[in-house]
Amino acid sequence: MNFYVINGSPRKNKNTGKLLDKAVTGILDKTNDLDKEINVEIIDLYSLDYKGCMSCFACKRIDGPFYGTCPINDDLKPLLEKLWNADGIIIGTPIYFSNINGETESFLERFRFPKYVYGGEPLLEKSIPTGLIYTMNVDEKLSDKLYKKTIYEPLESGLSGLLLKDVYSLKVYDTYQFDDYSKYENYLFKEEDKAIHQQKQFPLDLKKAYEMGVQIAEDAIKEN
Ligand SMILES: Cc1cc2nc3c(=O)[nH]c(=O)nc-3n(C[C@H](O)[C@H](O)[C@H](O)COP(=O)(O)O)c2cc1C
Repeated sequence: MNFYVINGSPRKNKNTGKLLDKAVTGILDKTNDLDKEINVEIIDLYSLDYKGCMSCFACKRIDGPFYGTCPINDDLKPLLEKLWNADGIIIGTPIYFSNINGETESFLERFRFPKYVYGGEPLLEKSIPTGLIYTMNVDEKLSDKLYKKTIYEPLESGLSGLLLKDVYSLKVYDTYQFDDYSKYENYLFKEEDKAIHQQKQFPLDLKKAYEMGVQIAEDAIKEN
């Protein structure tokens, strides 16, 4: 079985990366006594060279050589083929300027568009258990107010439609952003508050990320 864990943060080992590492542990724990080969590949989007959708429509060209796939020959190409046949996917993205960040968005355009059919059934051969992990500076209340209708709902309903399965979603609020708050200009966040939140809440968020990994593996086992 093949699982892919995709880190959309440029900072490999910060909040998003740490959560994704726990999700990997969850997948491995759930699958370790199966009599099957288990591959879990971690993909750092910022190590890859790629662009978003180029709007060439080769993927929609009836009887064309690239129908249902993407002709762009860059670092994403081999990865996309693997992802469309994955048994489970977990994607982590930081929120940048009230959206998922640019690299994650570009990646998702390329992942989604070739298998999306205007007004028709998606071209994926099977549903893929998928989880999204968002990390952000704002707290839960502000996140709901600002991002629920503009980020989470449209992204998750679009992806669920493509994957023919509801996607799992974990929002991680109020993350610890700098190693030392005194060194950076910032009038919004207090290091003391962030440190308390980090100590109390972040371990619980890591546990939820682990549980997401377990859940994705459980769903994948059922589908196989
Ligand atoms: C360019 C940039 C823009 C950001 N914009 C937002 C934002 O609009 N809302 C928010 O809640 N956090 C914002 N953040 C904070 C990050 O989402 C947050 O620190 C996140 O946990 C970073 O993930 P990482 O630690 O894995 O790199 C921004 C961070 C950067 C670098």
